[in-house]
Amino acid sequence: QIFRLEDYRASDYLIPQTQLTFQLSPENTLVVAELTIERRDGVAKNAPLVLDGDELTLKSIRIDGAPLSPSQYEATPDKLTIRKPPAAKKFVVSMETELNPSKNEKLMGLYRSSNVYCTQCEAEGFRRITYFLDRPDILSVYTVRIEAERSEAPLLLANGNPGETGDLANGRHYAVWEDPFPKPSYLFALVAGDLGRVGDVFVTESGRTVELGIYVEHGKEARAAYAMDALKRSMKWDEEKFGREYDLDVFNIVAVSDFNMGAMENKGLNLFNDKYVLADDETATDADFANIEAIIAHEYFHNWTGNRITCRDWFQLCLKEGLTVFRDHEFSADQRSRAVKRIAEVRTLKAHQFPEDQGPLAHPVRPRRYREINNFYTATVYEKGSEVVRMIRTILGEESFRAGMDLYFERHDGDAATIEDFLRVFEDVSGRDLSQFALWYHQAGTPNLSVASSYNATAAEFTLEIEQSVPPTPSESRKRLMHIPVAFGLVGPDGKDIAYSRVEGATVEGDIIHVRKRRHSVRFSGVSSRPAVSLNRGFSAPITLAIEQKPEGHYFLARHDSDLFSRWQSLNTLLTDELITAFRKCRGGKATNYPAELSALACDIAADEELEPAYRALALTLPGEADVAREIGTNIDPDCIFEAREALTRSIALANESRFGDLFRRLHNKGEFSPDAASAGRRALRNVLLDYLSVASGDPTFAEKEFAGATNMTDRAAALTILAHRFPGSPQALSALAAFEKRFRSDALVLDKWFQIQATVPGKNAVVTVGALMEHPAFSLTNPNRVRALVGTFATANQTGFHRADGAGYSLFADTVLAVEKRNPQIAARLATALRSWRSLEPVRQAKARETLLSIAAADNLSADLRDIVERTLA
Ligand code: ARG
Ligand code: ZN
Repeated sequence: QIFRLEDYRASDYLIPQTQLTFQLSPENTLVVAELTIERRDGVAKNAPLVLDGDELTLKSIRIDGAPLSPSQYEATPDKLTIRKPPAAKKFVVSMETELNPSKNEKLMGLYRSSNVYCTQCEAEGFRRITYFLDRPDILSVYTVRIEAERSEAPLLLANGNPGETGDLANGRHYAVWEDPFPKPSYLFALVAGDLGRVGDVFVTESGRTVELGIYVEHGKEARAAYAMDALKRSMKWDEEKFGREYDLDVFNIVAVSDFNMGAMENKGLNLFNDKYVLADDETATDADFANIEAIIAHEYFHNWTGNRITCRDWFQLCLKEGLTVFRDHEFSADQRSRAVKRIAEVRTLKAHQFPEDQGPLAHPVRPRRYREINNFYTATVYEKGSEVVRMIRTILGEESFRAGMDLYFERHDGDAATIEDFLRVFEDVSGRDLSQFALWYHQAGTPNLSVASSYNATAAEFTLEIEQSVPPTPSESRKRLMHIPVAFGLVGPDGKDIAYSRVEGATVEGDIIHVRKRRHSVRFSGVSSRPAVSLNRGFSAPITLAIEQKPEGHYFLARHDSDLFSRWQSLNTLLTDELITAFRKCRGGKATNYPAELSALACDIAADEELEPAYRALALTLPGEADVAREIGTNIDPDCIFEAREALTRSIALANESRFGDLFRRLHNKGEFSPDAASAGRRALRNVLLDYLSVASGDPTFAEKEFAGATNMTDRAAALTILAHRFPGSPQALSALAAFEKRFRSDALVLDKWFQIQATVPGKNAVVTVGALMEHPAFSLTNPNRVRALVGTFATANQTGFHRADGAGYSLFADTVLAVEKRNPQIAARLATALRSWRSLEPVRQAKARETLLSIAAADNLSADLRDIVERTLA
């Protein structure tokens, strides 16, 4: 079935109140639902009431207390139809459904994870609990009563504020929760089990005290301290930056070990993949700490952007996700380093969203159609969606943007809103016309700007010729012209931006060129010398740029641009271009010599004490193999990309060995571990230097020593990666891998790192390694984290291993996708997207990839989730 945006219709009935009672038991849970149903004005009396279900068993049904006869309704696992409901405006439907949480391997609806009852309802999981109008525009006030055996589940949580609790017969007890805020069913949550608690309080700006609780497995309480700290900082930040105060008496977070996604923003009761809660220096890397901070913030920020204002329908998913990602990006930028954060965001966007936009799964930020909504929790909706909000701020300016957000909260609090509503507030506060800009929501594909420049010394005129194009995407062959805000600077010989007296050919406001037409000839007058042009500073628009710029220009900007993001961008362009040249030579059977000035540039930035260590580490981080593949676009042979990249690494390592050695020695670890950004930056720089030094010397003993002496997981994992990737099969690598496994055997989250490191060892053997690790006692096909760490990482982050020319990587992948699918179709579908760029491969691999996709498509009883991905990928 295909769902279309234009088919949206308000429902005939509303559900103003929902009362739920759960009698929990591992295999046999009874759910009693009492729904107060209200007929919408203008709807015919007795219009049929059709409620959504999914694999449900109905035990009983009554309306206003009276049982229904079989002819009055029809109940199937996925639908309940009440043929002729009462003519009264309001009536109460009471139903009993029976669930088996232990057998629920899809991890949607009510399930058990490590003996804890928990729920996941977004997008359409609530219908696996009871029959309901399971759509986000049905807002209801919930009262929930949970009953369970006290010994099994001393802790009973649901949304909202705690109410009555008490004992029942047979060692059972109950708790009531009331959520005063009307909410859509996808925000419903319940948790019951035996968990440890970390408590704290937050006093809001207006003086209300909120009880904070983070619940984790007993014994892991200390590992929740960082998440709690991040939560309090998020609450404060949202008050300061967006004027948003928290609105309930309690805010609870529960860490769950089996979870399909990262986390979920259920009202007052966020559920988290434990990977994004648990951290300490022994077990988590700096990247883990940064992710936890960002995701804790993201889910908390949803309380306003998502919960208080929700989405009218799932086509509007970016309304809450893009906006909330933007908010968490800004939060992390404020907590850490803005430039470093921005570079990380852009690297993520290019690595995940650009390939989506440029391949068969391309879709607009606000899609117009879907078959399976779970497949639209994508980098386009989330990350590009965030970039679109960022562009609105760029166009309006900080102040007007904030005024627009204030108006959004004021005007739409309690609404299920649309993208049109969102854009309207910014038009209203600024008086600007955003109709052309709105195409960013409606049109798929990554726009390209090609730019040429010329300088007329006698006239003191500098001209930019800008041309925009949007490549075609599936089912959108003709594209309309976009409004692209391009931040820029004309950089003078001293590195400062130079002034101009006048500009014609495009609207320029401050440092933004508004590109709106196909072609702009932008002429700056009164320009005293030829500038180097710095374009799309701060990545002001999510586009590709083809600038006619000689390497000298990039070298100059990489050293002198006042915008730190653009300096990195210039260096990155130089590195990428050299890698592409080397790739082409490799395809022609030739080797490359890299320019010495490129090694010198990277090293000079890395050694520049004026810059933060984290930034300097990024200067030494080469574009990934997949990044290079994306830039090349067609006829990809991953082995040649690998070789080109290896050669560049060696070239930089050998040219700078002694300077790197000096730098490394000066960065010794001192004092206690702290996860703060500055300390993390020093570790990042030190570890990237360690990698180069290992390559330059060809000697594993450096990394071996660091591994043995590591006092935190960041350094330990970095050293282990160097040993395993640079010296595969060496005694040093083997013994370090064994030592790591022995030490962390019983800690699944840490063992995931061990799986990941081995899944990404470059080359042919990885397939065998991954296959063998799937037999490891800690691996499990039912746990999403394990599947992602081992097989997901192999398929997305091991170009040479996965895309083995003989197709062995693809076979392992297809088998795994189908095995996972039987248990958890959503995870299988997500895994299957790893082949989305198959058409860019060279012919031999391309044919093998296609066969693989066809073989998956031909499997029996394919789920809607997987079929949707595979068919679109092949189309
Ligand atoms: N709303 C969650 C978040 O971004 C993601 C939940 C997605 N769940 C799903 N089943 N697709 O924070
Ligand atoms: Zn979200």
